[in-house]
Amino acid sequence: MTRPAPQPHAYYESNRLLAEYAEFHFGDTWYGVENFPKALAERALAAMAGKPRGKALDLGCACGRASFELAKQFDEVEGIDFSANFVHLASEMARQGSVRYPLTEEGELTSERTRSLKDMGLDACASKVSFYQGDACNLEGRFTDYDLVLAANLIDRLYKPRLFLNNIHQRINDAGILLIASPYTWMEEHTPKDEWIGGFQKDGEDYTTLDGLKEILSPNFRLIQAPEKVPFVIRETQHKFQHTLSEVTLWERLPR
Ligand SMILES: C[S@@+](CC[C@H](N)C(=O)[O-])C[C@H]1O[C@@H](n2cnc3c(N)ncnc32)[C@H](O)[C@@H]1O
Repeated sequence: MTRPAPQPHAYYESNRLLAEYAEFHFGDTWYGVENFPKALAERALAAMAGKPRGKALDLGCACGRASFELAKQFDEVEGIDFSANFVHLASEMARQGSVRYPLTEEGELTSERTRSLKDMGLDACASKVSFYQGDACNLEGRFTDYDLVLAANLIDRLYKPRLFLNNIHQRINDAGILLIASPYTWMEEHTPKDEWIGGFQKDGEDYTTLDGLKEILSPNFRLIQAPEKVPFVIRETQHKFQHTLSEVTLWERLPR
């Protein structure tokens, strides 16, 4: 008997995932690997040097750390995620300046953590960020006119990544930047196989996700620097950590 595939959002709605991502965004760093959303925001801000920094979009923002980091230099940052729980926690951080969550130690054992924007040097950024529940593959019309769109570890979690990639240029100002970071871990649980944009053989040759990105984005974007693998560590329990490399590509929107 075949089971229906879980909805993409259901996976990210569990309390366990919420605590993992809260700690990933606002918590300790492990094994010398820097905070990933912060590292990506720094790369995005470096790519924005000399460009307007009006409005940024953090798509698939989860608990929102990259949004707060981008607000160091942007006038306004909007974070959008499918998961109501993630958006709720990110909004709580913006509103209260701190969040509390139970971190899994092992099995059902947890310990409470409190994290604050002040401790991260981000308290001045809270008034510039806003968070919304939304779908990257079906964005509302009001989400537009961005100088930067950050899509961090998002494309291989989308149910229609090609649809997202084919349309995102419409939301970005001329010469604006699209930063895509992804470990390209395609899973049918999140993305039906016929929607994968790479990671398979095509005409008898290996066709990578980077090949797919170039093919889909080249009509509207120019790749502005060599791809870079940025590591991240997600703590699952006090005994188990995932260490992953996410490939960062930076794309500049061609003039209309
Ligand atoms: C692997 S997590 C990455 C989160 C965050 N960008 C980071 O780097 O930590 C993928 C995120 O994408 C969100 N997501 C999945 N499908 C989405 C969709 N169609 N639209 C918006 N967000 C989506 C999930 O809820 C989850 O927060």
